[in-house]
Amino acid sequence: MIYAEILAGGKGTRMGNVSMPKQYLPLNGKPVIVHTVEKFILNARFDKILVASPKEWINHTEDVLKKHIHDDRVVVIEGGSDRNETIMNGIRYVEQNFGLNDDDIVITHDAVRPFLTHRIIEENIDAALKYGTVDTVITATDTIVESTNHEFITDIPVRDVMYQGQTPQSFNMKMIYGHYNALSSEQKEILTDACKICLLAGEKVSLVKGEIFNIKITTPYDLQVANAIIQERISHD
Ligand code: CTP
Repeated sequence: MIYAEILAGGKGTRMGNVSMPKQYLPLNGKPVIVHTVEKFILNARFDKILVASPKEWINHTEDVLKKHIHDDRVVVIEGGSDRNETIMNGIRYVEQNFGLNDDDIVITHDAVRPFLTHRIIEENIDAALKYGTVDTVITATDTIVESTNHEFITDIPVRDVMYQGQTPQSFNMKMIYGHYNALSSEQKEILTDACKICLLAGEKVSLVKGEIFNIKITTPYDLQVANAIIQERISHD
């Protein structure tokens, strides 16, 4: 089976003092999360589309999705204490309700990246079926500078081999579940990136090309950029 999991379990603290988590804020008249889920329902290959929200926002998420989305594959589940726990809640939900099969995959995506494309989703599905772990990336345009002491540069890696990670990140579900469950609680604290868990466990992580405009809405500035992207698209239609 092919699952999507939209990760909307965060509180959006870097967004500042707003009335609700950023995934519910309006973007051109519709909540951000609706824009994101709309991209997924266009793909007929998904058997189920899980939307993970904070426990106290589950009712709101269901209301918002009911209003804008009419697709029986969409189901709202409870998010976790951190992003990886949210991903795992999706896998646990599948395990409990449908059972986990060897070739089941999940395409996980930040609810606050509403501009992903059909191509990115398709390439994630194909690569996850083939390789088991997938990250979506763009080439780094700025030089990446490393400073492990936060005061002086400790390294400047060659830019040509540097990429910036986006989402989706896609996984064979049994594989990542096994690797995650084998981690200690200290390792779980440190390994905040799900692809890194697979990488350190020895999996090959394949790359899918993202898009510069596949931005993550993190700060109020990002929301302004997202609005500008939409306005530009409207003016070109
Ligand atoms: N996320 C999640 N479950 C969590 C934490 C984050 O599903 N426990 C999701 C967020 O809802 C978001 C995505 O992961 O769609 C990317 O995370 P980030 O931008 O860091 O979101 P927040 O944790 O909400 O933001 P902040 O770090 O500013 O609090």
